Amino acid sequence: MWLSGCGRDERSTGLEYAPQMYHPISYEPYVQLAANKFNADGKNMREPAKGSIARGKMDYYYPLPNTNEGYERAAKEIKNPVEPTQENLAEGERLYGLYCSHCHGAAGAGDGLVAAKFAQPPAYTARAYLAEGQIFHSIYWGKNAMGPHGSQLSPTEIWKVVHHVRKLMGFEPGKQGENKEEKK
Ligand code: HEC
Repeated sequence: MWLSGCGRDERSTGLEYAPQMYHPISYEPYVQLAANKFNADGKNMREPAKGSIARGKMDYYYPLPNTNEGYERAAKEIKNPVEPTQENLAEGERLYGLYCSHCHGAAGAGDGLVAAKFAQPPAYTARAYLAEGQIFHSIYWGKNAMGPHGSQLSPTEIWKVVHHVRKLMGFEPGKQGENKEEKK
């Protein structure tokens, strides 16, 4: 037992006693040791049909890919479809408190508790300009040390958070254009 448990390769699980206890005969969607010979791409799990929309994401379809080009295009082509009503702004602030402030800080200064130990994001107020489409893109797909939030928040929720981030940056809710930094 001792010998088999301590292989040199630290990723190896060592010798497995009765492997059929660990590796099911049925096809598992998330665990796969060998290529699936019935599916052309070799995966057990089938890719969703092209154009499929996940449950709960019907409210909005974000068309741009997770590339630099997508990010650039987001700045020009993507507009916030969610009205900056008092209710939506309040909900954006609430969601920001749940999903963002532990890194970005309550006022967006980049001083959240997690950020202090992890990677400090730049303060929103120090940004010359970030279009709402870019903010959506970065929340949806993530950016460098910041993970994607597209699976935690629905697109409509992200757009409400975008209103709040723009507010922290000094923009008037719902308005594109200059912020306080640029006016200085
Ligand atoms: C784990 C910590 C963490 C969390 C949680 C987090 N962020 Fe970030 N965020 C970062 C870091 C670090 C950066 C800087 C990324 C870079 O440019 O390298 C960043 C960058 C950004 C940017 C600038 C993106 C750009 O295009 O330059 C925006 C806007 C932003 N975050 C918004 C949010 C919002 C809104 C949330 C909540 C939904 C959030 N972040 C959650 C760490 C985080």
